[in-house]
Amino acid sequence: APPPWPYPFPMAREAGIEAYRAMIPVDVYKDRLAKGATDGLAHAVADHSDSPVLPVVVSKVEAMTSEVTLYEFRDPNGGDLPEWTAGAHLDIVVAPEFLRQFSMSGDPADRSKYQIGVLREDGGRGGSRLMHRIFTEGRRVFISKPINHFPLDETATRTILMGGGIGITPMIAMAHRLDAIGADFVLHYSVKSRALAGYLDHLAQPSWSDRVTVHVSDEGTRADPARILSGYRDGWHVYTCGPDRFMKAVLDAAEKHGFPDQVRHLEYFSVPDLPEYQNHPFTLRLTRSDRDIPVAADESATDALARNGIAVDVKCSDGLCGVCKCGLVSGAVEHRDFVLSNAQRATSLILCQSRAARPGGIVEIDL
Ligand code: FES
Repeated sequence: APPPWPYPFPMAREAGIEAYRAMIPVDVYKDRLAKGATDGLAHAVADHSDSPVLPVVVSKVEAMTSEVTLYEFRDPNGGDLPEWTAGAHLDIVVAPEFLRQFSMSGDPADRSKYQIGVLREDGGRGGSRLMHRIFTEGRRVFISKPINHFPLDETATRTILMGGGIGITPMIAMAHRLDAIGADFVLHYSVKSRALAGYLDHLAQPSWSDRVTVHVSDEGTRADPARILSGYRDGWHVYTCGPDRFMKAVLDAAEKHGFPDQVRHLEYFSVPDLPEYQNHPFTLRLTRSDRDIPVAADESATDALARNGIAVDVKCSDGLCGVCKCGLVSGAVEHRDFVLSNAQRATSLILCQSRAARPGGIVEIDL
């Protein structure tokens, strides 16, 4: 980790061993401290402005429903936080073994705080449960700077935002931004019941609340994407985030009504059901370094690269976050990610999941 932030980072193994060997016992440390011989005694910490993480304080914790909690983060010194754009998310180190992504739900124009909403998933891997337990007001935590893989196209002539459940969070930030630039938009919020709808109050307060429609399944007002997305015109964009089935219904309706691929935007929170993929060995051809890397059937392309000493940043390993995206030069690829659009897949691939389309295939990448 870049000192002093506790954040996962590619480790310089040899430098780590050297630093470990150079460690001094406590009594020697105290002795040097007492004598004022402090040269090299502590880490020399350079400028932190380039650090990928921010130390922040949890400034607000609001239980919005029995399962959803809103968290707000502020700069510990009361300053402005780095700029961010609608659709961005934060990576949060809940505990060393839990690095989680959460969409930002506030107003991008407000740099005094960041807001996220977290659904407690009792059947999940434990990150959201732990967060609900230990992220209390006043706690100091580390978060990434905002990262945006779900950007808003501000040139749209009309934007339709469709959020299901906790998937409403990035839509709120988008609505703030669209309102600020005077764009035409509507926001549809779908929930199972009012008791589970954490954002009703938040959506009733902004000046743009008249653009919001709430759909409540157990009241018989479930959203009808086919009706909402009818009448497509050039320049319209649709954004969706929420449960798999919800997003699929939205995207199917959008496609049927003529929304082309590049104006249909979605963001996954978790890995949807996967088809029965068959893994075959294949070859990665690295065009910049002129190397061939064989990828075995039981390993991913990122594993094979790491095995050959080529470090590629990996975060989720699930094809969700886009961190391991790489330029695709040629070759037939079976794209198994949930982050690239069809248009992007023509020139990129997600290395942690995607593979050659055929056994023994060669995929040329820009590495
Ligand atoms: S590491 Fe997240 S998509 Fe590959």
